[in-house]
Amino acid sequence: MSIADIRQVYQKSVLLENSLASTPLEQFAVWFDEALKANVIEPNAMTLATADAGGRPSARIVLLKGIDDQGLVFFTNYQSRKGQELAAQPHASLLFFWPELERQVRLEGKVEKVSPNESDLYFESRPLGSRIGAWASPQSQPISREELERRSQELAESLGESPSRPPHWGGYRLVPERVEFWQGRPSRLHDRLVYERNDLGQWQITRLAP
Ligand SMILES: Cc1cc2nc3c(=O)[nH]c(=O)nc-3n(C[C@H](O)[C@H](O)[C@H](O)COP(=O)(O)O)c2cc1C
Repeated sequence: MSIADIRQVYQKSVLLENSLASTPLEQFAVWFDEALKANVIEPNAMTLATADAGGRPSARIVLLKGIDDQGLVFFTNYQSRKGQELAAQPHASLLFFWPELERQVRLEGKVEKVSPNESDLYFESRPLGSRIGAWASPQSQPISREELERRSQELAESLGESPSRPPHWGGYRLVPERVEFWQGRPSRLHDRLVYERNDLGQWQITRLAP
């Protein structure tokens, strides 16, 4: 089969203005719950797009680890490529695609570090191997497999059973300013509803052409 012949007819659901929650984070929570119930594989895997100081974009998957009343939280190495890009340009985009539901969610906004306490709490909940890995891996730096395994073994011995959180590792929160919910529909007449804040700071919903 040629790549050009791969296509789906989207017909599982509809998205109407009168069914939306009043805030995008509430609507996101509803859709996330539906993704869980639909047994979407890794529903919390999301593409994080950042840009460097020159405006050049880069994207990678990270895992959503929490939704609070401000935004979406994920954890990473603050010195990684994404960490450096976020330090230079603290705006980012998050993208979810849940094919089992024929849905996409795009979120854009400012990114801030979560509090050290919040990072500590999540770090302590991770399996020991992951906690040691956070110390062992200078994320996004060149390294050999041998060096990575040697560092991991040495640190497993020296750090013991309850390593503290490395200072270069922690959470970020994307506080959304614009959120688009996309529901696939037949004949490419998809539903696209966007939340944006108006001048009074209230959320306004606009339908966009697919
Ligand atoms: C399913 C999946 C989940 C991932 N989750 C994370 C994550 O939560 N945090 C993270 O730092 N990297 C995660 N990664 C690895 C990133 O995609 C990426 O390789 C890494 O963070 C380095 O990115 P950077 O060099 O752009 O900073 C994940 C990758 C995959 C495929």
